[in-house]
Amino acid sequence: YAGVSTVSQPRPAPSTKPFLRALGGEAVWPPPVWLMRQAGRYLPEYRATRADAGGFLDLCYTPDFAVEVTLQPLRRYGFDAAILFSDILVVPHALGQDVAFKQGEGPVLDALKDEADLARLDTGRVLDHMRPVLETVSGLAKAIPETTALIGFAGAPWTVATYMIEGGGSKDFATTKAWAYGRPDLFGRLIDTLVTATGDYLIAQIDAGAEAIQIFDTWAGALPEADFMRWVVEPIGRIVRRIQTERPGIPVIGFPRGAGILYPTFVRETGVTGVSLDTSVPCAWAAEAVQPLAVTQGNLDPIHLVSGGDAQDVATDHILNTLCGTRPHIFNLGHGIVPQTPPENVARLMERIRGAARPDAV
Ligand code: CP3
Repeated sequence: YAGVSTVSQPRPAPSTKPFLRALGGEAVWPPPVWLMRQAGRYLPEYRATRADAGGFLDLCYTPDFAVEVTLQPLRRYGFDAAILFSDILVVPHALGQDVAFKQGEGPVLDALKDEADLARLDTGRVLDHMRPVLETVSGLAKAIPETTALIGFAGAPWTVATYMIEGGGSKDFATTKAWAYGRPDLFGRLIDTLVTATGDYLIAQIDAGAEAIQIFDTWAGALPEADFMRWVVEPIGRIVRRIQTERPGIPVIGFPRGAGILYPTFVRETGVTGVSLDTSVPCAWAAEAVQPLAVTQGNLDPIHLVSGGDAQDVATDHILNTLCGTRPHIFNLGHGIVPQTPPENVARLMERIRGAARPDAV
């Protein structure tokens, strides 16, 4: 009977959302575009809402404010995707670690020091803690335009672990590497905790309305090959396989920033649908080595949006001409927008992308 019932089952309509069509393998023209950190301090309306909310975490945990700042860049620029407004460090917070954002200083956490600190992390409280964030996701699913896709996200276990162990940002990740290289059993337990918490959280985001997921591994490039495989590829692979098993059809984009020539290995071994390229990846190389394996995204230097002008146009055209048109690519930056970006340069970028002539098929 199963065979009979599948015949009459409704098939999902082909998406009308360019971002999801690209992730489905279509060389959409013009390429869909969104920008990492598209909501943020470069926008005066963000600074105003942030002042109303109080602190940065209050902004993340108050659905009305978080929905509003997510929508702000869509109103200005009409991006093809909205990304949930939150932060990768809400996961350590949900696990019970103290997290604070101090003006001008970045994040500060009470650094994990030993096995006892590790044992206090509690995956059982994550979803309850995330209730306001999940409410933001369901609010956004209703509020965004019909052709805009909704991206949920989380930090990758390795990058989140660096903040948990260093107690904030770091130049060399010396303490985290001392755990990873010197006490791999202990470090592996932290990574396992993060795989579980992050998987639960991402599945809940999907259930609240997220249509695609991005996993940010900002510090992936700090690790040598064997440790990149063990602490970046393997844990992300477990999260991707869980999403593919439990919520089939939801595309996952990985961002292993700094992976270099290991980008193709990352794609093959994790099974991601899409991969976000950082600014240092040569586009012609990515067209040959990465595009046959996954949908690509990226990789304009965010500093081009600060200096603007002809140089920004030339760099934009280079991406359009090498990565777009014949294979699916999602236009984005190689890393997040910086606060000193003049908003008019983002408008110039959008005009350039949406007004471009399709490169000839090769
Ligand atoms: O992209 C978006 O618009 C969605 C929101 C988003 C934020 N952070 C908001 C934010 C996303 C996806 C992130 C991810 C994030 N957060 C990463 C991974 C991506 C990356 O950029 O590398 C990392 C490493 C973090 C951790 C983090 N959050 C740091 C180091 C800082 C301080 C640096 C800074 O820019 O202030 C934050 C704060 C933060 N997260 C801000 C925003 C808009 C600025 C906070 C403010 O308003 O003062």
